[in-house]
Amino acid sequence: MVISNLTELAVPRSTLGEGPCWDATAGALYWTDIPANRVHRLADGHHRCWEIGRPAGAVLPRASGGLVLAARDGFLALDPATGALTMLAAVEPDIPGNRMNDGACDRAGRFFAGTMAEDEAPAAGALYRLDPDHRVTRVLAGVSISNGIDWSPDERLMYYVDSPTHRVDVFDYDPGTAAFSNRRTFVRASGGGVVPDGLTVDSEGGVWVAMWGGGQVRRYTPAGALTLSMDLPAANVTSCAFGGPNLHTLYVTTAAGPGSSGGGLFACQSAVAGLPANPFRG
Ligand code: BGC
Ligand code: CA
Repeated sequence: MVISNLTELAVPRSTLGEGPCWDATAGALYWTDIPANRVHRLADGHHRCWEIGRPAGAVLPRASGGLVLAARDGFLALDPATGALTMLAAVEPDIPGNRMNDGACDRAGRFFAGTMAEDEAPAAGALYRLDPDHRVTRVLAGVSISNGIDWSPDERLMYYVDSPTHRVDVFDYDPGTAAFSNRRTFVRASGGGVVPDGLTVDSEGGVWVAMWGGGQVRRYTPAGALTLSMDLPAANVTSCAFGGPNLHTLYVTTAAGPGSSGGGLFACQSAVAGLPANPFRG
């Protein structure tokens, strides 16, 4: 499994860079800086940023145009032309200590994203599903730090991280109904302070996992065998996503912390290609 040319990109460093997502239509990479209340874009070497007035843990393209966010208080649409924000569906308005964190869409364009307590209180969060009709369903309760989520290429498996468990779990997934079941451990992160954070699945079904506290992105086969560990000059690696014209560029976000480049955005070339990010279809 070959990767090459790891470089830090010339964009401002984040406090807590998160949620990288490649929008193939726009040829743009989006990501967030959670505590800075910012959404960032890099396209054709040009960087742009939006102040959104609340933290956002995920940003995705919307099939009808613009972007959709998993933000502190719910799922929001962001019009990149004007910066206007529109609430699509509130999430946990009665729990002000919680915020939304990581998320992704399945191929039908349903947006799954979860919550966490800002103080990381155990089991205070949940995983939600926003359907294209803007209805929100709580699909998993008792989550501590809801993090990476993605699907196998045939969408029969859903990978999911609740970071303090130190595990990446896998469920059977029904792409017709969005029901999931049969939770089991996919891999356990080795190393004391290392927890899995964001993740992405490649076109061969390999699972790339950002290791918070571990300074690495690791790739596992669908059978759970470790095939690659890539070191980054930042201990707190938060997420990764494939992009670029042929989906052979792996983008990696990081947060401030130990290491020479904490908060930097990185890119490298991967021999295996990623899968296109699914837009929200509502
Ligand atoms: C959260 C952080 C958390 C980290 C490690 C991130 O997704 O936004 O608040 O510290 O995961 O668990
Ligand atoms: Ca995350």
